[in-house]
Amino acid sequence: MALNVIFLGPPGAGKGTQADRFAQVKGIPKISTGDILREAVANKTAIGLRAKAIMDRGELVTDEVIIGIVKERLDRPNVAKGIILDGFPRTVAQAQALDGLMAGRSPLIVVDIQVPDAELVRRLTSRLVCGQCGSNAPAGLAAGSPAAAAARCPKCGGSFVQRADDNEMVVRERLKVYEKNTRPLVEFYQKRPSFCPIDGSQSPSRVAEMIEMAVDTFAITAGVGGGAGR
Ligand code: AP5
Ligand code: MG
Repeated sequence: MALNVIFLGPPGAGKGTQADRFAQVKGIPKISTGDILREAVANKTAIGLRAKAIMDRGELVTDEVIIGIVKERLDRPNVAKGIILDGFPRTVAQAQALDGLMAGRSPLIVVDIQVPDAELVRRLTSRLVCGQCGSNAPAGLAAGSPAAAAARCPKCGGSFVQRADDNEMVVRERLKVYEKNTRPLVEFYQKRPSFCPIDGSQSPSRVAEMIEMAVDTFAITAGVGGGAGR
């Protein structure tokens, strides 16, 4: 059976970092609604043109648009072995829609990564990303430093920039939006046996170990594809 995993957590919790790594280890595709929207903004598509100002303010794009994007991805044949969802769902309406889209598929495993707010603000206001492919810069590269200006993305050769929504004012708004709209999903999912709370304040490699252990334990018990890609 397929391995379907949600990476839930506030902005800066490490959803993207861990979802990328986990998708690679398991050999299954990742859907990041944030990445899809940023690509739409860069390509100036109709959705991108509507989403840009909303994202720059740290608010949420409408459920209708987001659910449409995810539905289209879940209809693709490459999800047969499973899917990693990063940054979706983010509202109770999105979670309810996802339950509908997942009917008849393997159960959703929910990885909830939690990190204290002060650390989230520190991570996001110092994060650099590739201006071309959007990958996070290697750890330790400080925004504004000569080293950051000279560095190039190991994946595509692009230079590193700050994400448009990573200034402190917008980061604080994103945290408020998380508390109001996304934190209720913890309650929505935590009664399910597949809910895996993870302490995201430890090192990225330790967080990755804890996620793999929690997901594999549930997957073995439930008889879903925990060993996919290994
Ligand atoms: P999205 O792109 O999903 O942003 P986000 O949820 O705010 O989260 P981030 O991507 O900033 O953080 P992350 O948790 O992925 O952390 P990362 O691994 O990068 O969404 C952007 C916008 O799009 C939203 O605001 C909204 O407008 C819109 N949108 C997207 N999805 C939507 C939806 N479903 N509904 C409505 N609107 C939607 O790590 C952060 C930094 O910390 C990096 O520098 C990383 O290197 C570092 N780091 C990671 N792990 C660790 C660690 N363990 N220790 C130290 N540093 C670490
Ligand atoms: Mg992310």
